[in-house]
Amino acid sequence: MNVVILAAGQGKRMHSDLPKVLQPLAGRPLLAHVIDTASSLKPGVICIVYGYGGERVREVIARPGLVWARQEPQLGTGHALAQALPYLNPRTPTLVLYGDVPLIRAATLSSLCQKAGKGVALLTVELDDAHGYGRIIRSRGKIKRIVEEKDATRAERALREINTGIMVLPTARLKGWLAGLRNKNAQQEYYLTDVVAAAVADMVPVSSAQPAAAWETLGVNSKAQLAELERIFQRQTAAALMQHGVTLADPARIDVRGSLACGRDVSIDVNCVFEGEVVLGEGVSVGAHCVLKNVKVAAGTRIEPFCHLDQADIGARCRIGPYARLRPGTTLAEEVHIGNFVEVKASQIAARSKANHLAYVGDTTVGRDVNIGAGTITCNYDGANKHRTIIEDDVHIGSDTQLVAPVRVGKGATLGAGTTLTKDAPGGALTISRAKQVTVPGWRRPVKKK
Ligand code: UD1
Ligand code: CA
Repeated sequence: MNVVILAAGQGKRMHSDLPKVLQPLAGRPLLAHVIDTASSLKPGVICIVYGYGGERVREVIARPGLVWARQEPQLGTGHALAQALPYLNPRTPTLVLYGDVPLIRAATLSSLCQKAGKGVALLTVELDDAHGYGRIIRSRGKIKRIVEEKDATRAERALREINTGIMVLPTARLKGWLAGLRNKNAQQEYYLTDVVAAAVADMVPVSSAQPAAAWETLGVNSKAQLAELERIFQRQTAAALMQHGVTLADPARIDVRGSLACGRDVSIDVNCVFEGEVVLGEGVSVGAHCVLKNVKVAAGTRIEPFCHLDQADIGARCRIGPYARLRPGTTLAEEVHIGNFVEVKASQIAARSKANHLAYVGDTTVGRDVNIGAGTITCNYDGANKHRTIIEDDVHIGSDTQLVAPVRVGKGATLGAGTTLTKDAPGGALTISRAKQVTVPGWRRPVKKK
């Protein structure tokens, strides 16, 4: 089979510099969703007709195996399909999809293709408000033609069965049908929909099929419709997660912009956002208002509310947050505790180590059973270069300590509170840098002069 995705339209009503088909749904361009669905049908050719936004669309989508046909100027959907024709295999049927109809499901398309056989098949739906769509004109039940809203008579406008735009066509016939299109209509466009009357005239059977759900065929013309489709998509994702056994505090308040794989008994509180590839192991719980991007979390770990985790690999039975920030390159072994207002970047932290309050751990290797006191800062940046800090096993670091990298703290060392460490601290000993505490006898507070 050939698939042609029409994606040359401008999308004026989006009021955006970003071409319509690149507007994101669940974090990915509308067109990428359509390409994914098309690919799942394993067609011989996927041809994208592009135009508005030009090379930018090609650059952003950039996937091997796609065929691109440029349509310039855009003279209508029939003219658009004609641009793809040279790239199609005439011996197999052609499925036409729209780049701005992202929720269409593969199962619906398969049954449409089956319906078509060697003829034409249209995906149609009945709408209470059919305004703006092409209407399906039947006579004694048989499809005769499609009339566009702007060309329709009042009686035709009253019809509720509409053309979704998705159709299957016999490719070998297309050349003749498309060459025969005329633009003598209200929009002075070459309508793809006019091939239906041509097929009927040529005695080619025209059938129709309906999608399992009407929302599959919704298109995006405005930001309001984009938001509506986003909600539908997220509701479907939430339903699939629950089907799989995930506990969602509220399926209406989760956003998955990528893939979220969950083990058994995972629970997710409200308003969490998952981006890229996220994997949550068995029994993981995620508190309210967390953002997880490209994160792996091993079994039994608890993520408290308000955490921001980006490109981190988190071990089993850890406790993260509330209000923790894990930045790219963070690896935590099992039973690590990262508490409130702690930021970790490009660091490896071994088993059972803790940084529970107000700390920055950057470019650091932390051993096991280490305790990092409140207010500890690794000073990893000298204004020009980044340097590493090594903290070996069983180290205790007192509060408000600065470790000026590059620096190493030996196994079992203790650093006194308030230390500014500029040289390596030997293992097994107390190292402290602190101004001596003095008390001035007889000192008086100044008093205000009268
Ligand atoms: C089209 C159908 C209409 C159907 C409706 C469903 C025609 C003539 N009409 O109308 O029957 O009910 O879709 O939404 O086909 N495009 C191009 N090049 C062009 C024109 C359009 O690539 O020159 C692409 C657009 O980017 C879009 C799709 O084709 O993805 C549909 O175009 P649009 O202008 O939205 O068609 P409608 O007038 O809504
Ligand atoms: Ca449209």
